[in-house]
Amino acid sequence: MHARPRAKVNLTLRVGERGRDGYHPLESVFLRIGLADELTVAFGNGLGTDVLTVSGLPGADVSENIILRAFDTTRRALGQELPPLVAHLDKRIPIAGGLGGGSADGAAAVDCALQMWGAALSPALLTDVAVELGADVPFFAANAAAALVRGRGEQIEVLREPSNDIGLLLVTPALALSTAAVFARFDQLPSPTEHTRVISDHATVLADLVGAASDLRDANDLWPAAITLAPELATLRDELERQTQRPWLMSGSGSTLFAIYSSADESVASARSLVASESEALGGALFNAVDLVGPDPHWRYP
Ligand code: C5P
Repeated sequence: MHARPRAKVNLTLRVGERGRDGYHPLESVFLRIGLADELTVAFGNGLGTDVLTVSGLPGADVSENIILRAFDTTRRALGQELPPLVAHLDKRIPIAGGLGGGSADGAAAVDCALQMWGAALSPALLTDVAVELGADVPFFAANAAAALVRGRGEQIEVLREPSNDIGLLLVTPALALSTAAVFARFDQLPSPTEHTRVISDHATVLADLVGAASDLRDANDLWPAAITLAPELATLRDELERQTQRPWLMSGSGSTLFAIYSSADESVASARSLVASESEALGGALFNAVDLVGPDPHWRYP
């Protein structure tokens, strides 16, 4: 079996107060993008256990990988002895970049495992499996192009898909921002209502993403937390906005920043010119110019 699990960006991200379970309730517009990992799954004949190998971008862990957890969790939910699987993941979605790559892989792994085993789970059990694997996984399991995601990620309201006549340029800097650390810093800062723009008309936003970009720029509650932990991220955004003369947004808890263009060609042209500038603030960053469908970017660097 072969799957191309695609990444997401967050167009908005409202964060509530941390709950008793240690998690913050979220309200976020997720948009799937044309940048995918590659997952291959086969039967591990003669193997006593599931096996995973990884290639592509460095930094993906193997033993704790969500794909092995997905096989495990799916097997437990089915309550049957099922043959071991061998999987290979070619990692193309930047790791720990706020693009949901791991969660996309997890949802795809559940789907592949069920197909390999010729098994099915009820929608309720499938949601339980997705929630157990991680907060972003139910969105990917729902297979929607765009959705309003609430709670701990388990409430999915599918939104009308935007037209594909847009391009996105993703810039993922080489800095480690842990999700847990960003949420912990969020708790120490003043309430987000003081600095964040509230977007309530999600349908209008999706109908004109380019036009909405300047409002979306300040609609991520985690931005102040991210830049107090990593001030280089603010410097990077300043430099991207200076060079491209358009708003740049942060996806999830970072560190990926992205801008919205009227076409993928425009996002490619912008990427080329940014890379050619050899600006110090952009050093070490990964560039991916994508459309919404993919699965491959139109242009990437390096
Ligand atoms: O989802 P994940 O397990 O990667 O999140 C890592 C940490 O980030 C959690 O343990 C929690 O401290 C924090 N978090 C949160 N609210 C969320 C998502 C994550 O506080 N909605």
